[in-house]
Amino acid sequence: MFDHTDLARMQSQSLKMQGWIRQQTFSPDHEKTLRRFSSWELGELIFKVNQSTLRGRLAAEPALPQGLVEEDGRQRWYSLEEINEIRRRIRISRKSLMPHRPAGKRAVRAAIANFKGGAGKSTVALHFAHAAALDGYRVLAVDFDPQATLSHSMGLSDVSEEYTVWGIMARDLVRETEAANSAAVGAESGTALPQRSLPAGIRDLGLGDLRVGDFIRPTAWPTVDVIPSCANAAFVEFASAQYRHLNPEWSFFAAVSRYLDAIPDDAYDLIVFDCPPAIGYQSMNAVFAADMLYIPSGPGYWEYDSTTSFIGQLSEALEDLARFSSLVPAGTPSLPKAFLDVRFLLTRFEHGNDLHRAMKTAFERVFEDRVCQHPVEMTRAVEQSGRFLSSIYEMDYRDMTRETWRRARASFDQAYDEFKGNVVACWDQMEEAS
Ligand SMILES: Nc1ncnc2c1ncn2[C@@H]1O[C@H](COP(=O)(O)OP(=O)(O)O)[C@@H](O)[C@H]1O
Ligand SMILES: [Mg+2]
Repeated sequence: MFDHTDLARMQSQSLKMQGWIRQQTFSPDHEKTLRRFSSWELGELIFKVNQSTLRGRLAAEPALPQGLVEEDGRQRWYSLEEINEIRRRIRISRKSLMPHRPAGKRAVRAAIANFKGGAGKSTVALHFAHAAALDGYRVLAVDFDPQATLSHSMGLSDVSEEYTVWGIMARDLVRETEAANSAAVGAESGTALPQRSLPAGIRDLGLGDLRVGDFIRPTAWPTVDVIPSCANAAFVEFASAQYRHLNPEWSFFAAVSRYLDAIPDDAYDLIVFDCPPAIGYQSMNAVFAADMLYIPSGPGYWEYDSTTSFIGQLSEALEDLARFSSLVPAGTPSLPKAFLDVRFLLTRFEHGNDLHRAMKTAFERVFEDRVCQHPVEMTRAVEQSGRFLSSIYEMDYRDMTRETWRRARASFDQAYDEFKGNVVACWDQMEEAS
């Protein structure tokens, strides 16, 4: 027979191994770095302008970044910093290379969510983040999933739970409770509000003193930052119920929304949430903070089933949340939660597969125009290697057959272009920040 002590023993053995695996897979010389991009990619895939016009411009203006020439090649290879500098400094045929970004509005927040593990959430989140960065946008990725696939893929593996969404929620609890307590003290006697106290376990972490920027970590991509997660952040699901009990007035579901509101509006253009495969305190925070809901789903029967039950459970959870209307603080979106957009995105799709095509038709029949026109295709190029996922954008096309790379890239590009159109439509609907 086995009880909790056996499980604890197994875990401590496993932890020892985990350290070793980490050492093996994350030695300093294994640190994730971003490759350079060739002049071909720059013209055809990134700026989408005439190759020779672009080369001519770069050759004519030596003050512009010149990239590096590899010993055996004729191509020039540019870093993303250089690409962004070129983007800012030149126009081609009188057209700016900067992506559309309305002034005076905050970043669009897109949650990639489904309960089904393996639906492609992290893959889609990673690719949208990278595609947007290559498109000239500044991106913040928020990993809500303690499995931390996105964090690992972005090169972050040594993360303590204080610096995850769990930390953001606990910090919010501390701040909201302190604010409510001092408001209660300041209130006229006779209207005394209850004083809430928090256990030392939370108070002593000093989370209330963490600044907004303390949760945000850089990645190998200069214009992609991440709020990472880690396995221990799973603890939040456990602890949050207790926190709500400590302060029943705490609008627990709005913690991340409040946190993101504190980030300057022009710091980012796009904020992508990679959601956990379950409804809980973290995913409710993701959903409440999101402007857009993107629901990836594989193209099989089971996936159709689980996507259906996902939207059912989400609907119930959101309806349930509406009970807390009185808790929603001024300035945050009111309840019931309304999204600016909801989309279904088929992933791991094979055009040659009859079942997949039939499932796409079924999805379209049921969800109509909510189904993205461009599914993400199944590709060998992004199949996960161990714990890490690299986006097609990070991979060098010389490391595989050019055809495989181009097809995979084209598929993610099309899904991203459609996503970008939806993001821009969200901006149009969004009110200017005061
Ligand atoms: N378009 C795709 N082509 C091939 N493999 C994919 C594709 N999308 C996802 N995968 C693989 O499927 C697995 C699950 O994907 P992941 O994005 O981690 O799903 P989730 O985050 O929903 O659990 C991973 O091994 C990933 O590499
Ligand atoms: Mg995932």
